[in-house]
Amino acid sequence: MAIVFSGIQPSGMLTLGNYVGAIRQFVSYQEKHQCYFCIVNQHAITVPQNSEELRKNSRSLAAIYLAAGLDPEKVVLFIQSEVPAHVQLGWILQTLSYVGELERMTQYKDKSRSQGSSIPAGLLTYPPLMAADILLYHTDIVPVGIDQKQHIELTRDLAERFNNRYAPVFTIPEIQLPKVGAKILSLQDPSKKMSKSDPNRLGTISLLDPPKEIEKKIKRATTDSDTRIYYDPVNKPGISNLLTIYSALTHKTIDEIEKEYQGKGYGHLKVDLADIIVQALSPLQEKYYHLIESSTLDNILDRGAEKANQVATKTLSAVEHAIGLSRK
Ligand code: TYM
Repeated sequence: MAIVFSGIQPSGMLTLGNYVGAIRQFVSYQEKHQCYFCIVNQHAITVPQNSEELRKNSRSLAAIYLAAGLDPEKVVLFIQSEVPAHVQLGWILQTLSYVGELERMTQYKDKSRSQGSSIPAGLLTYPPLMAADILLYHTDIVPVGIDQKQHIELTRDLAERFNNRYAPVFTIPEIQLPKVGAKILSLQDPSKKMSKSDPNRLGTISLLDPPKEIEKKIKRATTDSDTRIYYDPVNKPGISNLLTIYSALTHKTIDEIEKEYQGKGYGHLKVDLADIIVQALSPLQEKYYHLIESSTLDNILDRGAEKANQVATKTLSAVEHAIGLSRK
């Protein structure tokens, strides 16, 4: 059985971008793959977090994973900081990483820009920790949105570097992007991705937004002064983004949607799209509010950490042996 690993930072309520780019893909793997899904709280602290918020967001992310349809009998769901091998291997992979290649990561460049002159070193060394997450489980497939592509390429380079220098311990993972929706854009500024840390809440649909909020945000989404509905990401990025969301949630092709809306106005498309999003999210929201109150969440995370620790410590031992860090 091929092995799947992915992670999400508990740095705020997830967005429709996280849902389409990541979580929905995760659910499709659970029947025929050995899956590990992680709440990467140690990645989240690479920028300042409020401790109570971080604790709450980690629990909330676990509930979202389950509410979206992940079955804890089929997947291993766990919190990164409860499996110490992640930072242990992360350190080892830092020793194999070059400062130049870490500085070239676009996520580092974007995030460090907003930190002024005091850039936390953890922002720079974020990718080797992400590589450790993936490599500890001998992962074959990493389902993510396109913004993570560069990090996965670095993971592959680090795995190959290690295997060539020491011993062939690591599997080289493949990235898996969704067919539609690998980069959902902000509803207010379609030159940027939709992001859970965007201070402009109008640009982002949160997975827990009530229907009225979703309708308002879609209604106010940036479009253009043309009136025809067709896909053209360069000249019509706002409308193209709405078409992408529409296609991702209905599985209709963009072509089919364009035909359906021939001769109709933007308002028509927006009303229908808001309804499609509400229909897609309402079962998830219902399950979420039920789960967040229940203690089963903690049992699932305990069991997940136990299973993840079993696999991760074995890989770490093999790595330490190959390097000469262990006495035997
Ligand atoms: P994070 O927490 O920023 O995002 C989680 C996942 O959601 C995808 N995503 C999007 N997809 C489409 N459109 C968007 N607007 C959008 N925004 C986010 C991301 O690509 C990601 O798949 N570094 C990772 C977390 C991580 C990880 C890992 C991922 C840590 N270790 C190991 C995979 C494997 C991150 O910051 O994701």
